[in-house]
Amino acid sequence: MKAAAIIGGGVIGGGWAARFLLNGWDVRVFDPDPEAERKINEVLANARRSLPGLSDAPLPEEGRLTFHADMAGAVAGADWIQESVPERLEIKHKVFAELQAACDPGAVIGSSTSGFKPSELQEGATRPGQIVVTHPFNPVYLLPLIELVTTPVNDATLVARASETLTELGMYPLHVKKEIDAHIADRFLEAVWREALWLVKDGIATTEEIDEAIRMGFGIRWAQMGLFETYRVAGGEAGMKHFMAQFGPCLKWPWTKLMDVPEFTDELVDLIADQSDAQSGAHSIRELERIRDNNLVAMMRALKGQDWGAGALLNKQDARLRAGGPLTGGVDQIGDLSQPILTLSRAVPLDWTDYNGHMNEAKYLEAFAASTDRFMELIGCDADYIATGGSYFTAETHIRHLAEVHAGARIAVRTQMLVGEGKKLHLFHSMYEGDQLLATGESFMLHVDLKTRRPSPPAPEIEAAMQRIRFAQSGMPYPEGAGLSIRRPG
Ligand SMILES: NC(=O)c1ccc[n+]([C@@H]2O[C@H](COP(=O)([O-])OP(=O)(O)OC[C@H]3O[C@@H](n4cnc5c(N)ncnc54)[C@H](O)[C@@H]3O)[C@@H](O)[C@H]2O)c1
Repeated sequence: MKAAAIIGGGVIGGGWAARFLLNGWDVRVFDPDPEAERKINEVLANARRSLPGLSDAPLPEEGRLTFHADMAGAVAGADWIQESVPERLEIKHKVFAELQAACDPGAVIGSSTSGFKPSELQEGATRPGQIVVTHPFNPVYLLPLIELVTTPVNDATLVARASETLTELGMYPLHVKKEIDAHIADRFLEAVWREALWLVKDGIATTEEIDEAIRMGFGIRWAQMGLFETYRVAGGEAGMKHFMAQFGPCLKWPWTKLMDVPEFTDELVDLIADQSDAQSGAHSIRELERIRDNNLVAMMRALKGQDWGAGALLNKQDARLRAGGPLTGGVDQIGDLSQPILTLSRAVPLDWTDYNGHMNEAKYLEAFAASTDRFMELIGCDADYIATGGSYFTAETHIRHLAEVHAGARIAVRTQMLVGEGKKLHLFHSMYEGDQLLATGESFMLHVDLKTRRPSPPAPEIEAAMQRIRFAQSGMPYPEGAGLSIRRPG
């Protein structure tokens, strides 16, 4: 089991702890604040309900979380050390000196610093080549971007290993090879922040109007195409050169005050704080975090459907998680066919839950449909087979809801084949969280010729696979919940 040491467990360190832990790493925290354990557990609770459900694939078991009274105990033997202490260079230098005295010289030391260049962090270090910037974005457990900033003293193999680890954690390491204060993304945010301060100070817009100007328009656009791709589209068929020619001259217009910063007077701070209270004060910070996480998960899952941007990254991560796992391959890969076969293993996504706080009934059907698809693939009715003109169509489904299940819960579906002969396929799915039976789903399907759209016998290899399962499962009792329907009243 790989281990990560988290040095400084505040907002950002807590997010890193969750990211590692939920991806199967052991996590060892050092933070002198007596409140650190409580704070990390709060971040973890948010992460558990949101992060696992970003994935549509089986997940690794959660790692083990431990808290350590001294830094040496936390870093000894760790493969990755993530420093997230306050943004003060002298504190960071002191922390590096202390942890380098105790850590494995081959471990990656990543700093979450928002502003310092890696060369500044490396100054005076025992082994400067071990220290890189790995700058995350809040919430670290959901947002994939990590600015991996390095200097020439960093060994190429260590940088490659850092990049690989971040990718395995479902993140997107953006390697910034030429260091600059505040890296890349925060420089944009700083520019936008400065302009927003002017707009409020000059009474042009309130905090709420500025937020609406972002989230009703370009904010949505940026989340999927960024800046340059968005502008390329805006240039139309004439392309990027045309776009630049059209809008380039505006840069000389008095549109922007980006070079100046408004004076940060008490008056300006009060004005912004009061407007922000009026705008968002009705929600607690915890509520706002939950709203934010719900929205982020919903948007990223929508992008998965388009296989684009952050969604494409999530799809790649799912493919990695599935590779060689229990939900791939055919009948030959299943060790024991005499028991119900695992056909789904995943976490409940946030956007599968409803106003009652539990999984929406439509999503049970979605989960069972995924199990049916997996069963079809298992017997040889995969995409290649369907392309030859045969498939199964569902004729009837019956779902029983037996217990509640919430966002983030890890669910598994096991499938018994009740009939699998000729054109008929009758499956009985049981959904569990741990040992608890949550629901059952029964579906009856017919093999269909995709040209005539009429029932037809499946290919002999499918018949043979069904026969193997039929033979292996013949000793199993008929499930108690099978063959039921909703009774007529009276
Ligand atoms: N907050 C953000 O949005 C954000 C985003 C990206 C990066 N960062 C960077 O992450 C780092 C941490 O920021 P944060 O927002 O989590 O701050 P924070 O104040 O929430 O957390 C800092 C934690 O470090 C602990 N700490 C202090 N001295 C320590 C020491 N010597 N050893 C171990 N722990 C110590 C504190 O007790 C605290 O829990 C900063 O470098 C910051 O620039 C912050």
